[in-house]
Amino acid sequence: MVELVRTGIEGLDEILNGGIVKHSTTLVSGNPGAGKSVMGLQYIYNGVDLFDQRGLYLTFEENAQDLRQAAESIGFENWEEYVEAGDITVFDKQTLLREHEFDASLELLLEELAEEDYERLVLDSLTMFQLFFEDEQEKRTYLLKFIDILADNGLTTLMTNEQGAVFPETDIGLENFLTDGNIYLLQTPTDSGVNRYAWVAKMRKQDVDTDIFPMEIDEGGITVFKNASEFSMMGGEESPL
Ligand SMILES: Nc1ncnc2c1ncn2[C@@H]1O[C@H](COP(=O)(O)OP(=O)(O)OP(=O)(O)O)[C@@H](O)[C@H]1O
Ligand SMILES: [Mg+2]
Repeated sequence: MVELVRTGIEGLDEILNGGIVKHSTTLVSGNPGAGKSVMGLQYIYNGVDLFDQRGLYLTFEENAQDLRQAAESIGFENWEEYVEAGDITVFDKQTLLREHEFDASLELLLEELAEEDYERLVLDSLTMFQLFFEDEQEKRTYLLKFIDILADNGLTTLMTNEQGAVFPETDIGLENFLTDGNIYLLQTPTDSGVNRYAWVAKMRKQDVDTDIFPMEIDEGGITVFKNASEFSMMGGEESPL
């Protein structure tokens, strides 16, 4: 029986058939503004808030102050309290980029993992993390090594992945194959704003619902709606036929 880690994100755990496979690494891909960072924040926040599971949040995108503001603005109002209590640990941009080499940053992380028990980890973003490496071979080797280290330390991980192409199938990289799970966050423009969708394209060892589901980002974070959508890249526009 596969053990699962619940995200606590409404609708998402149902699509995942209970949650994310424990000790796995899942890639969360999407365009700018698709909701990748919100999902990461919510996963870590819910871990403490709902399941008593401690989390590590690694970000190359923001400093700890920006992250706190982002979390609070979306309604994760106890974020700072959890950080102060040590239930959420943030390695922010300054911390991670202080070391210019992967091995030095990894050392920092390993020290933390040796001292404290965490169950959840978010890396925001893998795209930035990969800038440590010069060629594809090196990227691949280090990513595999890193994924193993995370699993060996009892962590269940989400890594965000910046996506250039609007439709994911045109932008599938090595990291999609090397990770255990692939979640895509999609957005299509409409007359009145955007329609958002979540798609769990793969989750090793788990029978997931691979339809594309509508989602919203609002106060309280992401909600995924169980009614499968008639997904269309045409947004609200009329079909040319
Ligand atoms: N409090 C809020 N209420 C409603 N929507 C919000 C709120 N906070 C953020 N959002 C929405 O979430 C989007 C940002 O999502 P997020 O920062 O997670 O994107 P991202 O995928 O990480 O983008 P990037 O690749 O640029 O880092 C915003 O564009 C906004 O539409
Ligand atoms: Mg982001």
